[in-house]
Amino acid sequence: MFMPKRRVLIALAFGSLFSATLAAQETPHLGKAISEEQLQGWDLIISPDGEGLPSGNGTAAQGKEIYEQQCAACHGLEGQGGAGVPGLVGGSTKSRPALLTVGSYWPYTSTLYDYVRRAMPPTAPKSLSDTQVYQIVAYILHLNGLVDEDVVLDSVSLPRIEMPNHAGFIDRSQVQ
Ligand code: HEC
Repeated sequence: MFMPKRRVLIALAFGSLFSATLAAQETPHLGKAISEEQLQGWDLIISPDGEGLPSGNGTAAQGKEIYEQQCAACHGLEGQGGAGVPGLVGGSTKSRPALLTVGSYWPYTSTLYDYVRRAMPPTAPKSLSDTQVYQIVAYILHLNGLVDEDVVLDSVSLPRIEMPNHAGFIDRSQVQ
C-alpha cells in the first residue's frame, strides 16, 4: 500500500510511543524499596537448632497470667482449643482421626516461639515482647507436661527441649 513518507513517520512515532507506554505499565510504581532496618522487623526466622532466637528468657509460672489474658479466650484455659480454634495441648498423631496439636505434632520448640511471636494473638500480631513470648511458650510446654513451671527457657535451653513428635517427620531436604 502506498503511504506518503510523512505519514509513515507519524505512524512509527505513534508505534514507539505506544510500546513505551506498555513498558511503563509493566511496573506499577507502587510502594518503595524496604530498608534494612525495616526488614529486621520481618526477618524473624528461627531454626530448629535455635539460631535466630532472641535474648530474654521466661518460665511457665511467669507465662500463666499472660496466657490467660491473651490466649485463653480462644485456645481455652488448659489449651484445649475452642470453636474453630486449634487445641495446643494433648492430642495424638495415631488416633483416628489424628488430633494434631503443638504437643502431639510439632517437632521443634523453635517453631512454637517463631509462630507465637509472628502471628499471635491474631488481633495484634507482633505485639508481645520477646520475653513475653518466652514466658507464654514455657507455659504452653508446661501445659503439655514438657517443662516444670520454674524451668527458665532462653535461646540455649529452649531448643534443647525434645518434642514428643520430633522423630515423626522424614527429612527429605537433602534428597536430590
Ligand atoms: C481471637 C482468637 C485467638 C487468640 C486470642 C489467640 N489465638 Fe492462637 N490461634 C487462633 C486461631 C484461629 C488459630 C488457627 C490459625 C490457623 O490455622 O491459621 C490459632 C493458632 C495458634 C497456634 C498454632 C496451632 C496449630 O497447631 O496450628 C498457636 C501455637 C497459637 N495460636 C498460640 C496462641 C497464643 C500463644 C496466643 C496468645 C498470645 C494466641 N494463640 C491467641 C486464634 C487465637
